[in-house]
Amino acid sequence: MGKQEKIAELYQQMYKSQPLLVRSPGRVNIIGEHTDYNLGPVLPAAINKYMYMAVGARTDNEINIYAADYSDQFSASLIKLEPAWKLWPNYVLGVINEFQKAGKNLTGMNIVFGGDIPLAAGLSSSASITCATAYALDKLFDLGLSRLEIAKVAQAAEHNYVGVHCGLMDQFASLFGKEGNLIKLNCTTEEHHYIPFTAKDIKIVLFDTGIKHHLVSSAYNERREQCQNGVALVQKHEPQVKGLPDITEDMLNKYVKPVSDIVFKRCLYVIQEIERLEKVCTALETDDFKSVGEHMFNTHYGLKDLYEVSCDECDFLVDTTRQIEGVLGSRMMGAGFGGCTINLIHNELAEEISEKVKNEYRSRFKKELKVYHTSIGNGTEVVKPEMLEAV
Ligand code: GLA
Repeated sequence: MGKQEKIAELYQQMYKSQPLLVRSPGRVNIIGEHTDYNLGPVLPAAINKYMYMAVGARTDNEINIYAADYSDQFSASLIKLEPAWKLWPNYVLGVINEFQKAGKNLTGMNIVFGGDIPLAAGLSSSASITCATAYALDKLFDLGLSRLEIAKVAQAAEHNYVGVHCGLMDQFASLFGKEGNLIKLNCTTEEHHYIPFTAKDIKIVLFDTGIKHHLVSSAYNERREQCQNGVALVQKHEPQVKGLPDITEDMLNKYVKPVSDIVFKRCLYVIQEIERLEKVCTALETDDFKSVGEHMFNTHYGLKDLYEVSCDECDFLVDTTRQIEGVLGSRMMGAGFGGCTINLIHNELAEEISEKVKNEYRSRFKKELKVYHTSIGNGTEVVKPEMLEAV
C-alpha cells in the first residue's frame, strides 16, 4: 500500500467516513537561493514527493489533527485558536488562523496527514503541509481562492504561527508545479512562466546530508534583515530603489561596504545570484547544461562565503562532486545549514556516481548519505479515487 492509500485508510478507520484527500509536493530549486524574499527571481520545480492530507468537516468547532509520520495527535478549538506549544501542529493551525482572520466561514475539522518528503531536508516539507492544508480547506469549505491566494495564506501561516519569515518560493512551487517544467517566478511582480526541463540525459539527484536544519529560522530571519538593512542604506542615496534587484555592485561598494562588511557580503551574494539565474535561463534555452552547472557551483560558493549559510557536509559534497566527471553542477539547496545538495548528473552515470559519493561521505563523516533521484511533477491537487491503488 502506498502512502496516500495509508493516509486515506487511517482517516477512514479513525472517523468512519470518506475524507477529501489532497497531495502537495516538495520542491527543488535549480538556482535563485535566498532571492525570493529579496524580490528577485527563483527557478524551482515541484518534485514527485508529496505530503498527503485527508480532511473532513465536523459539525462542532473541534479541530483534530493526526500527524501519521509522528504517530502524534493534536486537538484544538476554532473558538480560541492559538499557536501550539509544539511545532508541527502550527503548520496546520497557522493556516486555519489566516482563514479566520480573513473572515472565512469554517466549521471544526478532522485532519490526518503524512508523506514521503524527507523532513527538514531543504525540500519544503513545511510548505507542503501549509499548502495542503490551505488547498484542502479551500475545497472543503468552498472558499473560492486562487492558487496565488492559497500560496500567500500558506506563507502567512509560516510567518505568523511558525515564526519563519520565508519568501514565497516554496509555497508557489508546491502549488504551481507542472510536470517536466521549471517555474520562473518573479517575486516582485509575482508573475511566473514555465521553462521546460526537457534534457532526457540529465537527472536531478539530491544528496541528503542528514543534517536537520531545525535551528535555521533565527539565522534565516537574520539574513533577511541584513538584506533589508542593505537596501535601506542604498535608498538613502538612491530613493528610486525598491529592492536588491534594482541595486548594482557599484551602489553596494559606495553606500553599504563602508558601513557594514557583513551586510555588504549578504547583498553582494543576492545581486550576483540574480545575475546567475538570468544566465541559467539563457543557457537552458539551448540545453547548455555545462553552463547551468557552472553557475550552480558558483551559487554554492556564494552561499558558503558571502551568505554564510552552508555547512561542512554540504561543502564536502559539492567539492567531491566537482571532481567527478558526469556531474554538471552541484550546490546546497534551500535555507541552508544542512539539508540536501542538488546535483545535475548525466543519466547513465547517476547510479554509479551516487554510490561513489555515498562511500566518500561515509568515510569522511561516518554516516550514511541518503540519495533521492527526483523527477519534476505537478502541483497541489485532489487525489481522485482512480489515483489510488486498489487495496
Ligand atoms: C526556504 C524559504 C524560501 C527561500 C529558501 C532559500 O526554503 O522557505 O522562501 O527563501 O529558503 O532560497
